[in-house]
Amino acid sequence: MRKLTYFIACSLDGFIGDEHGDASAMLRFLDEEYLDFLKTEFPETLPTHSRVPLGAGDLENKRFDTVLQGRGSYELALKEGITSPYAHLREYVASRTLGASRDPNVEIIDDDLVGRVRRLKAEDGGLGIFLCGGSQVAGALLDEIDELVIKTYPIVYGKGMPMFATGLDIQEFGLDAVRRFGNGALVRTYHRKR
Ligand SMILES: NC(=O)c1ccc[n+]([C@@H]2O[C@H](COP(=O)([O-])OP(=O)(O)OC[C@H]3O[C@@H](n4cnc5c(N)ncnc54)[C@H](OP(=O)(O)O)[C@@H]3O)[C@@H](O)[C@H]2O)c1
Repeated sequence: MRKLTYFIACSLDGFIGDEHGDASAMLRFLDEEYLDFLKTEFPETLPTHSRVPLGAGDLENKRFDTVLQGRGSYELALKEGITSPYAHLREYVASRTLGASRDPNVEIIDDDLVGRVRRLKAEDGGLGIFLCGGSQVAGALLDEIDELVIKTYPIVYGKGMPMFATGLDIQEFGLDAVRRFGNGALVRTYHRKR
């Protein structure tokens, strides 16, 4: 089975952005030490258009070969005229309203999201699946998530967009690893307890 990993940046109080999902306040933590970590451990999570400027243009995928985004998250790229934000991965976008895909590398999932993700997870071999977010699609897929990689930045929002747009749904995960950085960021990796 291939793992579905929710790899997500969040505040100390558990928000992935402000009430509208804007996560730009977290960009200040992308310093040299932290970017080196991302380039070394998770190079494929850097969007295609930022890879060359960050010196990551030719880095091989390490953990993931597939990315899944919700329409809300994908639209951030579309607004910039980018139709394939993770061109170095197989791209899936969950949406019932987008209609036909704007890019040959992007497949739209408009029906049975959970079933489609289960089939992707059941594929033989390959690397894992990067669940990019946002909140709604992560909520819809909460039961399917095998691993959490939570990049917590030392910032409090007060209110904002939660990691999962769900009702009360208590699920337990076990801690596998913690990395700490000079800028106060923590990256924690958890597996689902089954
Ligand atoms: N902090 C971080 O690391 C991080 C990472 C990613 C995103 N974000 C933020 O998250 C925000 C977006 O989050 P969001 O919760 O508003 O949106 P989202 O989860 O990215 O996308 C929501 C959309 O996904 C589609 N969708 C959801 N469930 C579905 C299902 N079961 N079947 C088919 N389609 C489904 C729907 O699209 P349709 O309405 O078209 O049907 C829905 O409107 C962005 O502002 C971004 O900045 C933050």
